[in-house]
Amino acid sequence: MPPVEGARFGDDWWQRGVIYQVYPRSFADSDGDGVGDLAGIIDHLDHLGPDGLGVDAIWLSPIYPSPGLDGGYDVADHDRVDPVFGSEAMFDRLVAEAHRRGIRIVLDLVMNHTSDAHEWFETSRASRDGPHADWYLWRDPASIGDGGQPVPPNNWASFFGGSGWEWEPRRGQLYFHTFMVEQPELNWRHPGVEEAQFRMVRGWLARGVDGFRLDVFNLFLKHPDLPSNPTRAGRGPWDRQVHLYDRDQPDFPALIGRFRAILDEEPGRMSVGELFDGNAETAAGLTSGSHLVFDWALIEASWTAPAIRAAIEEREAAFREGRWPTVVLSNHDRPRHASRLADTVGAGDTDAVARAAAVLLLTVRGTPFLYYGEELGMRDVSIAPEESVDPPTFRFSPGTQWWDRSACRTPMPWAPGPGSGFSNGRPWLRLGPDVEERNVEVQLADPQSVLSTYRRLLALRAATPALQLGSLRLDPDRSGDIVAYTRDVPGQRILVLLNLGRADSDWHLSATEGQSGWRLRFGTARAAAPGSVVANGASLSLGPNEAVVLEAIG
Ligand code: NOJ
Repeated sequence: MPPVEGARFGDDWWQRGVIYQVYPRSFADSDGDGVGDLAGIIDHLDHLGPDGLGVDAIWLSPIYPSPGLDGGYDVADHDRVDPVFGSEAMFDRLVAEAHRRGIRIVLDLVMNHTSDAHEWFETSRASRDGPHADWYLWRDPASIGDGGQPVPPNNWASFFGGSGWEWEPRRGQLYFHTFMVEQPELNWRHPGVEEAQFRMVRGWLARGVDGFRLDVFNLFLKHPDLPSNPTRAGRGPWDRQVHLYDRDQPDFPALIGRFRAILDEEPGRMSVGELFDGNAETAAGLTSGSHLVFDWALIEASWTAPAIRAAIEEREAAFREGRWPTVVLSNHDRPRHASRLADTVGAGDTDAVARAAAVLLLTVRGTPFLYYGEELGMRDVSIAPEESVDPPTFRFSPGTQWWDRSACRTPMPWAPGPGSGFSNGRPWLRLGPDVEERNVEVQLADPQSVLSTYRRLLALRAATPALQLGSLRLDPDRSGDIVAYTRDVPGQRILVLLNLGRADSDWHLSATEGQSGWRLRFGTARAAAPGSVVANGASLSLGPNEAVVLEAIG
């Protein structure tokens, strides 16, 4: 791997640093076809690099050829770049240009399933013989029903609705899919699958990639006998099962160990597993060293002090003994947090919510993952069903909740004017109604904007070891609307205060031995200039959704 020039950190960048998720279709379109592309990302690297947000890595949602039935998570060829995003040479240029700015590249690996347009599946479904015959989960029907229909071999469900089994007349067998019918599940117990996937991993590493996000990684292995799952009460077919046999198998950590061994052939490579449907305890159990795992405690918490405290406590209890957590408030699957959190507190200054959420994201313990546009306080955009670009949303069975993820995947607004600097053509998905004001150019000029807040906070984080690596302790006073926690490394203590109530609230700054007071390092709405000193024993009054970061003075 070529050395990362200008990198600010050593091999533990994945722990100290910040990762920014780009949804390539929606980031920047360089050629006017309305679809974001790799050249567009290169054009905007300075927004992400040391002169901009100063992130340490970008995670690219899938860039591979795909029919696009699941937003690129239906991969037809893992080894290549979809021409809609650019050429192979353009990808190599992106890696080089990013590295020149000290930004690592993290690819999204979708290895649990492929598209049904993948060559492996096309040959696998054609016959029971051939090189890929057993690369997917094929089974004979349990029986033939009265109407002549094949009865699935077990009760496993599809997360996107209905049975997980689909009949293939050419083989006279059914195949399993956790997601869409067009996303057949790979059989990781076949040695050829692991070998092919790991060869692909090596190929991307050889091109300079620094890490991977592993899509739904805890689903890779199923119980070898494919027994039916126990059932329970629930809203839809997926929720009505205890997923004992279709995920989280005991031999899965060993598989991840084999994957990690490839990455560990050189230092500084990270990976992050997307935990599908599990809690912080499960996520922490699959975390080790530079293999991180997303947990959903914070993303699923409502915007109230008790809920955020409980989520922090759950994470702190789970991620101990060297297990390092991630911090995520938005991604391409969930409602954007500027909309989601503001909805939980009703009307009001929703940008204040976005600014306070930025403080949480960048000061709580763990590696933060930013989702493109959240630095602008971007909201979900209402998309009519006929404009939706998220087919799974229409496959859900009655009683199962899902939503149209098109809303959180709309194009990034860079500047005022037609196309918002995203595209000179017709954007593949409509832009938000507020893009004339909510865009990078306008927000850069406003020191109070959400973007300016992110930039200041990220700079503070980069210069503050306690915020990067410090231990976290929630204040024992759990009664009011202010969430308070300290972050500590030897020689530095940071105190974070977030008022999640709807009214002003006071916080009494208690004295700690050997400490003369507190210096204000950051505030989302402070009249007082950062750097001003607050004495021990004083009280700070915080408005609704106001957040401050203070440093103990010796
Ligand atoms: C997880 C991805 O984040 C999501 O977007 C996708 O729909 C599922 N995996 C299935 O591929």
